[in-house]
Formats: sequence, C-alpha cells, structure tokens
Amino acid sequence: MELPFAESYRIKMVEPIYKSSRAQREEWINAANYNLFNLRSEQVYIDLLTDSGTGAMSDNQWAALMTGDESYAGSSSYYNLKNTIKTIFGFEYFLPTHQGRAAENVLFSVLVKEGNIIPGNSHFDTTKGHIEFRNASAIDCTINEAFDTESEHPFKGNIDLDKLEKVYTSHAKEKISMVVVTLTCNASGGQPVSMKNMREISELSKKFGIKVVFDSARFAENAWFIQQREEEYRDKTIKQIVAEMYSYADAMTMSSKKDGIVNIGGFMAMRTEELYKQASAFNIMFEGFNTYGGMAGRDMNALSVGLHEITDGHYLDNRIEQVKYLGDQLINWDIPIQRPIGGHAVFVDATKFLKQVKKEEYIAQTLAIELYLEAGVRGVEVGTLLADRDPITKENRYPVLEMLRLAIPRRTYTNNHMNVVAVALKNIFDRKDKIISGLKIKSEAPIMRHFSVELERIKIKK
Ligand code: F0G
Repeated sequence: MELPFAESYRIKMVEPIYKSSRAQREEWINAANYNLFNLRSEQVYIDLLTDSGTGAMSDNQWAALMTGDESYAGSSSYYNLKNTIKTIFGFEYFLPTHQGRAAENVLFSVLVKEGNIIPGNSHFDTTKGHIEFRNASAIDCTINEAFDTESEHPFKGNIDLDKLEKVYTSHAKEKISMVVVTLTCNASGGQPVSMKNMREISELSKKFGIKVVFDSARFAENAWFIQQREEEYRDKTIKQIVAEMYSYADAMTMSSKKDGIVNIGGFMAMRTEELYKQASAFNIMFEGFNTYGGMAGRDMNALSVGLHEITDGHYLDNRIEQVKYLGDQLINWDIPIQRPIGGHAVFVDATKFLKQVKKEEYIAQTLAIELYLEAGVRGVEVGTLLADRDPITKENRYPVLEMLRLAIPRRTYTNNHMNVVAVALKNIFDRKDKIISGLKIKSEAPIMRHFSVELERIKIKK
C-alpha cells in the first residue's frame, strides 16, 4: 500500500487555544458589532483571518534570532540577508522595511507619479492604495477566467497580454512606469502566474521600456504551482524556478510575513544601483537606515533562514497539501469555492453559497459571521465591504466576486483543525435556505472601512 501523506516536521512547542460556546460567541460578536476584526484573539478558536505573520517559525529560525546583530550600520544580519536575496532572487541590491506595504511606499515614492497608469493582475489593496494615494490609477489586466470560480484554468493569476498591450499603446509611455505582477494573485484566490506569462510580460514590457515589478508575498507558492503545472518545470527545483521567475523582473516588493515565514518584516530588491540609490533616500526617511530599515537584526536573520526553508525540501508540499485538504472536502460536498484551489487560502464563493441574501446585505460578511458562530472559526470577507464605496457617487462598489477567504497560517494548524472548518461550513451549507437576511451598516470610515465598520443584523418581520 502507498504510504499516506504526512507533514515533514514535528511539533516542539504548543500554544493552547480556547474552545468557546455558541452562547459566548453570540455575545462577543454582538459586542464586536459583527466585525470580526474587533474580536480578541482569545475569542477565536481557529483563526483563518490571514496567513500574514501568523505562521510558526522553525527551530533553526528561532536559533538564528539569538545570533542577530543589532548594530545600527553594517550588521552581519543585514549582510546575511543580502546574500540570501542575491542567491535566491538574483538581485544585487536590497532595502529592508518593516512590512510589505512599507516596501511599496518606498519603491512607489520613486516610481509612481500623479496621473500614472499602473497595470497589473488584481493589485492587492495596499498596492492599489499606494498607487491611488499618489493620484495614479491601478488597471486590472487579469485574465477573464479568474472571475469565473468554476473555471479550472491552471494559472488564474495570469495577466491578459492583449489587455496589457492595450494599456501600453493607449497611454503616453511616460505615464506608465511599471507593471505590478502579484505572485500568487491574492485577490483572485491565491492563484498562480505561469512562467510563460512572466516571460511574455517581460518581453512586452521591454519593448515599451516599462519596468516589471513582482509583488512577491507568496513567490514560493507560485513557484510550486509552476513545478506542478508547467510540464518543462517538473524536474526543476524550486530554487531554480524562482531564479528564472526573477530573471523576468526589474525589482520586487516583499511582505516577509507570508513566504518569508516570519512574524513581521519586508523588503524591496532591485537590479540597478540607480533605482537602489533613489529608493534609499525614501527608505531612510520612512523606515530606517539602509542596513536595517525597520527590522531588528535578529528578525533579518530569521528571515534569511525562512527564505531558504521555503525554497528547500518538502515545505511547499506540506503547505499546499493542507490548503488542498480543506478545499477538497468542500468540493466533495458541492460547496462553491474558487477553483482550482489556491496556494494560501480557500475562497468560498458566498454569492453561490447564500443565494437568498441580497448583495446589499453583505453576503460574504454574513457567511463569515455564520462560520464564527458555528465553530469559532474566523475568516475574512473579500467582497463589498472591502471594495468600499465609489469615491464620487458614494454608492457601494459591488465586486464581481463576493468571497469568504479562509487563509491558512503556515505550519500552525493540523488537519484536524481543517476538518472542524470543513464540517462547520457543511453544517451551514445544510441549513443555507434558512439564512435569508444579512447585515446593515451602523457606521463606517470613509476609506478602508472593513477594518472598523460597525454592523447589525437585519431583522425580518414575520
Ligand atoms: N501584497 C500582497 C499580495 C499581500 O497579500 C499583502 C498583504 C501585501 C502586499 C502587504 O503586505 O501586510 O506585509 O504590509 N496581505 C495580507 C493578507 C494582509 O491578509 O492577505 P504587508
């Protein structure tokens, strides 16, 4: 008999988590104004709010913390990390930052000017935020298949080259400083970009003299999908694949809280000294001196180990196998999710799940609340609340996909926890026809409202 799959690590330290009762959760979520961001972590049993900074470090990463060099300038931890980035991504220059959005802030301070057009594949919210904050526009050029949750396209993170070329030809060249390619594409469900697509984006952009920047939060998961799904990469190692991926980029931003497997940190890296020098000036102002830029020496050491761990051995098999383990159970029960299953999360298609709830009543948020009440599981709405209001009409913007994201922290939960999540969703699915109303807003902030919005249940009069 073939041996079953099992993780290639064992657990050396545990953190107790609290199993609450439904009555407690009713009280807590009411007090939290039906906003899961307002819950205290002790009120959550299984926390799938994000995979960002919530993973478990290895014994080697913890050991590396102890040898961190906290010198203000020229620490050995900085040079360790510089070396690792050169080895893995091939970039000569790098600047550390306190997290991914800080790298965006610094790099975009150089590259994005008022009136610029920045195409990409469903830019992540902070990326879009840093573009729009500079009065520039982010244009989504993702392939259409990404917006059909039932399409089994293997690379739903891909950029549609016709859409990209159209952007390149319909605006003055000086207006487009870069294209941002997000690996994997978080907004469309942790969906990968193919090597072929990266190569073609690079060729097209070179022709127009436009820089290619990779938003790299989940670069290793993307490389794993290339190894699995692009025939000619079957026998290549993840490190070889990553090296080729980055040969197509001029620069990268990184949230180390994902595929760096650390709890905080980020960086940007680039090929040319010129861009490095321009970005350095902003890094010193916003983050810190170039050799620490928002990170402690010990954290740079742990990140350096994390970047090697994620691209070596069986880590990625364990990781993506667990996401698939959860997703496959849902598929077996006909629960509608974004397919194929992505790298870091399972995205439940809330519109298809709760057919009776109106879009004006925040369908994915309603489902997120149901899941919390059912089992103490916290997911996150990726739908109308997140999409905010149109800045001019002040009307809700209804995105094509209304999703509940279940993001799985790295090396943190077991498959038993995944079983609880799956069964909790199944129980809700079985009684979905009884869920006929959603939520309404009591108060909201003018931007980024999802973090602080206050909601209440809509009561149906019998
Ligand atoms: N880019 C992508 C694709 C991301 O998913 C994130 C963060 C960032 C940039 C920003 O990085 O948080 O370190 O400042 N995503 C988190 C999430 C918050 O839950 O998906 P950061």
